[in-house]
Amino acid sequence: METALYHPEYGYYRRRRDPFGKSGDFFTAEQVQPVFGLLVAACIRQLYREMGEPREFTVVELGAGRGEMAEAFREWRYIPVEIDSGGLPNGFVGLVFSNEFFDALPVDVAVREGEAFREQQVACEDGRFRWTTGGPVPAEVERYLRDCFPSPEQGRWYEASLEAPRWMERIARSLEDGYALTIDYGYTRGEAARFPAGTLMGYRRHTAREAVLEEPGERDITAHVNFTALQEAGAARGLRTERFETLARTLLRAGEPDQFAAALNASEPREQLRRRMQLKTLLFGMGETFRALLQRRRR
Ligand SMILES: C[S@@+](CC[C@H](N)C(=O)[O-])C[C@H]1O[C@@H](n2cnc3c(N)ncnc32)[C@H](O)[C@@H]1O
Repeated sequence: METALYHPEYGYYRRRRDPFGKSGDFFTAEQVQPVFGLLVAACIRQLYREMGEPREFTVVELGAGRGEMAEAFREWRYIPVEIDSGGLPNGFVGLVFSNEFFDALPVDVAVREGEAFREQQVACEDGRFRWTTGGPVPAEVERYLRDCFPSPEQGRWYEASLEAPRWMERIARSLEDGYALTIDYGYTRGEAARFPAGTLMGYRRHTAREAVLEEPGERDITAHVNFTALQEAGAARGLRTERFETLARTLLRAGEPDQFAAALNASEPREQLRRRMQLKTLLFGMGETFRALLQRRRR
């Protein structure tokens, strides 16, 4: 997954072709602009006010992609972080935002056989990749699977995103006072039973494909986020969960004070209609499948 997505030359996210948008492979909520940007900014503004409007307030965005949120975040110091650019500043006050960042991090795959989690590895045969079962998983993966999933089930496929808790650790280390707001699709430990075959998925030209080993470098590959892993890794380092809810709920709260007037305010009737459609997509289309996790770190 790491090579297919991030190889410097052939990786899906490193090639020159733009994977986003109509002529790409997928849309994210972040591309539903300007409404998504305006509502997320309204949500951050509420948090900024609750913190007493600190003079230095920085918004860091992990996996900023095309930088679609730059305009919405212009009232604060904004640091977009991408694979080859940006980074978490030291000891800052503010908020770490991400949308569909954690689902793009490479995972280890395992299957439960007997008393062991065994590695699902990728072999190459007759010029094609295929899955093959290897030996027991490394200790770190075993620990992750035991901590973040219910009791093991025979034959079930598991994914361990070791990078996710590492990112939580980085956030906790660099954020002195503020929030982490993570938007993504995924499950909690209690909901994990819904995915006995795991959650790996490939995307090409707006079609979801389960065969993730085909067309390496040409397809996006994602794995649903284990929110329990994010919450527990955060909690262990002083990032306390304040809210965990649907994205729709978060956006509704952000639009509540002015009944969405600011987000829908456009002089042109066609633009007004476009924004209404965007709001509908965000609340009813994406809002129920995506989750928003808000964590707080205090000085
Ligand atoms: C699915 S895209 C989402 C982009 C954008 N947030 C959006 O919603 O449209 C995931 C992004 O995370 C970035 N990414 C993946 N691993 C990263 C890493 N280790 N550091 C920084 N960015 C990373 C990818 O390059 C990609 O742009």
